[in-house]
Amino acid sequence: MRYGHFDDDRREYVITRPDTPLPWINYLGCEDYFGIISNTAGGYSFYRDARLRRLTRYRYNNAPLDLGGRYLYVRDEESGDSWSPSWQPTLSELDDYECRHGMGYTTISSKRAGIRVETRYFVPLGETLEVWRARVTNERSAPARVSLFGTVEFCLWDAQDDATNFQRNYSTGEVEVEDGVIYHTTEYRERRDHFAYFACSAPSAGFDTSRDAFLGPYRGWDRPVAVERGATSDSIAHGWQPIGAHQVRLVLAPGETRDVIFVLGYAENPKDAKFDPPGSGTIDKRRVRPVIARYLDPDAAESAFGALRNRWDGWLGSLQVVTDNSHLDRMVNVWNAYQCMVTFNLSRSASLYESGIGRGMGFRDSTQDLLGFVHMVPERARQRILDIAATQLPTGGAYHQYQPLTKRGNDAVGSGFNDDPAWLVLAVAAYLKETGDLAILDEPVEYDNAPGSERPLDDHLRRAIDYTLERLGPHGLPLIGRADWNDCLNLNCFSDTPGESFQTTQNRDGGVAESVFIAGLFVIAANELAAIAGHRGDVPESERLRAAAAGMVAAVDAHGWDGEWFRRAYDFFGEPIGSVLNDEGKIFIEPQGICIMAGIGLDDGRAVRALAVVRERLATPHGIVLQQPAFTRYELRLGEISSYPPGYKENGGVFCHTNPWLMIAEALAGNSEGAFDYYLRINPSAREAISDVHRCEPYVYAQMIAGPDAPTHGEAKNSWLTGTAAWNYVAATQWIIGVRPELDGLRIDPHLPAECGEIQVLRRFRGTTYRIIVRCQPATDDGSPSVTRLVVDGRPIDRNIVPLPETPGGEIQVEALVGPAEVPS
Ligand code: BGC
Ligand code: NOJ
Repeated sequence: MRYGHFDDDRREYVITRPDTPLPWINYLGCEDYFGIISNTAGGYSFYRDARLRRLTRYRYNNAPLDLGGRYLYVRDEESGDSWSPSWQPTLSELDDYECRHGMGYTTISSKRAGIRVETRYFVPLGETLEVWRARVTNERSAPARVSLFGTVEFCLWDAQDDATNFQRNYSTGEVEVEDGVIYHTTEYRERRDHFAYFACSAPSAGFDTSRDAFLGPYRGWDRPVAVERGATSDSIAHGWQPIGAHQVRLVLAPGETRDVIFVLGYAENPKDAKFDPPGSGTIDKRRVRPVIARYLDPDAAESAFGALRNRWDGWLGSLQVVTDNSHLDRMVNVWNAYQCMVTFNLSRSASLYESGIGRGMGFRDSTQDLLGFVHMVPERARQRILDIAATQLPTGGAYHQYQPLTKRGNDAVGSGFNDDPAWLVLAVAAYLKETGDLAILDEPVEYDNAPGSERPLDDHLRRAIDYTLERLGPHGLPLIGRADWNDCLNLNCFSDTPGESFQTTQNRDGGVAESVFIAGLFVIAANELAAIAGHRGDVPESERLRAAAAGMVAAVDAHGWDGEWFRRAYDFFGEPIGSVLNDEGKIFIEPQGICIMAGIGLDDGRAVRALAVVRERLATPHGIVLQQPAFTRYELRLGEISSYPPGYKENGGVFCHTNPWLMIAEALAGNSEGAFDYYLRINPSAREAISDVHRCEPYVYAQMIAGPDAPTHGEAKNSWLTGTAAWNYVAATQWIIGVRPELDGLRIDPHLPAECGEIQVLRRFRGTTYRIIVRCQPATDDGSPSVTRLVVDGRPIDRNIVPLPETPGGEIQVEALVGPAEVPS
């Protein structure tokens, strides 16, 4: 069952009924100011940091789930009937309804009693504000008199404090109202130099800033008394809950349309110029007034919207494909790239599953997010790399997260995850392959943000590698520390206290828990860095790194192979995990993916064997589960993974982040059909038709789909903020479509099923536009591998890397013929 459809030409997902199985959200903003918006206008806004600069209030895990938002109300002044044009919060019946989520904007449109309201929400580029353009049309044959109300509920900035510290907060709330603009000024009179504002383009018929006055005692947002009565009361909030509510009266001739613009924004003043007049308690509004005025002007707002659309054309234009598979095309061309932008911006901080309070930017998360983002805005990726590297510890290790506002690392979500540093190497490698900007390696970067500790970025990467080499266990495999990529495999934790955090609890000392996953990741990282060193002519360093990688491969060969698949780890006591010797958790997906991606087992048949077992034991129609059999009991020596009911999250769920690793592994093993098959199993668009089962948004990946051990097999959770976005993008574009940036050019190495026939790829790479046509031929029956032959600007070349042009800027035509070796070129 579907709740909407894709509009591919407009790059929108169109939701055609408001009662989606879960709130289906979108993001507003892509720079400093962000908002979440659901298909019924629920959500909230923040400046940079969802915890510390929260503009509007949102109560997570509410009933209904999604309550609190950018709500409008319409009141028919003749009949007294009133409703929400976004359905929530009044849930009034609508004659029609449509929500279009697009690239950085959402439009919700509906009609009731002949009054159509179409509201478009977006954040103009370069601004710290959002524009809501409400277009009200009278579709009746008679004139209509309506009131339109626009509302927000302010958050007292720190979302954590706002939700807990009521003994203080009920007294601190303050507002100013001037020229019809509502200013939220809580704590501005003392240490804050920022404030929020809510303005409206139409002449004001009244306002409210006290929630109690607007809603009425004992009422909620579903039944505001001011709307019922048809009049706000110009209330001024003193403490309690400051809100912004504007009332506008419209008289519309039959067929007439009127635009009313609301602007919600964030502004800062210099610390020494906060007040006007100086020393008063009144905000100096001289800087902000022109900004507000600009966006209340319909033409300016419209052109800002056009600029946003153009910007997205540019970003998405760096890679576009045309194949005969619409799921592949729309995810690669639009939605997967878009989700990569969102994860790059927000890491794991704010979604309907991440409260915006608990998690800043993850070291491991942000470095992986970059893999799917770097081609869109390489300059921002560069800055991100430098910011993250500056939080790295002198040991080469990492804080597990850092706060976007301060860019400082912290231990709030644990530390000592021994895989963290290696991901930095992968991120830098991806950046260098995309841009060729070797100069970044010489950039001086602090350790632990300590002034004076600057060393070239290159030194950070070496320390990341050495960090692993200095922490090997008895099998020569990397010690796992608190956990590796799998946050829930806590082999040193031994937690038996209810409620204790698996992420931060003091670990037990003296164990020898090792990770085969980190071993595979290390091989990839060391080989990447060796290639970079070689590229810069540093032969000794390149050889050292190759030798380190080879040593790790030998350790995996000796102790990481279980006989039919790669083992997962060794526990605190040195016993294998992910082995035939275990009763539960015999086989895990992660080492099969990462070891094969590292090239281990490709030349001796082990990769193919492991992949066959994955297909047999882990693959389900809804994707590949993380491990089998799922753990049925809590096991002290394993930690959080065994805490989840079987089939959910890391305990046997389809943890989607890992699936692309298997797509890449299948591609590397020469099984293009297998790679594509796995790709489609979790592709959200390909699951659209089962939206009643999947339940999350059909246009973005979710972190998890419940596995077969769960009663809700196929149900997705935790959409949007997941490494799934970047890795699926990498798998689809670089391995399945096979257009892969490398240090010395663009490699064309498609792994598409033969029935794909011919596909077209447009790729902007280092300033040059590549127009690529791939023709897939059926493979030979004898199973001999197919090869890719390239014709570049009409001339056959003998490698599958298109060499870089002498001068970038032009266009290069590439024809790639994929098929059995004897196919004539
Ligand atoms: C979740 C993981 C997550 C970790 C860190 C765990 O409860 O299951 O997926 O990475 O918390 O926040
Ligand atoms: C989600 C976390 O954000 C990510 O860092 C981790 O790798 C996965 N969970 C797996 O545990």
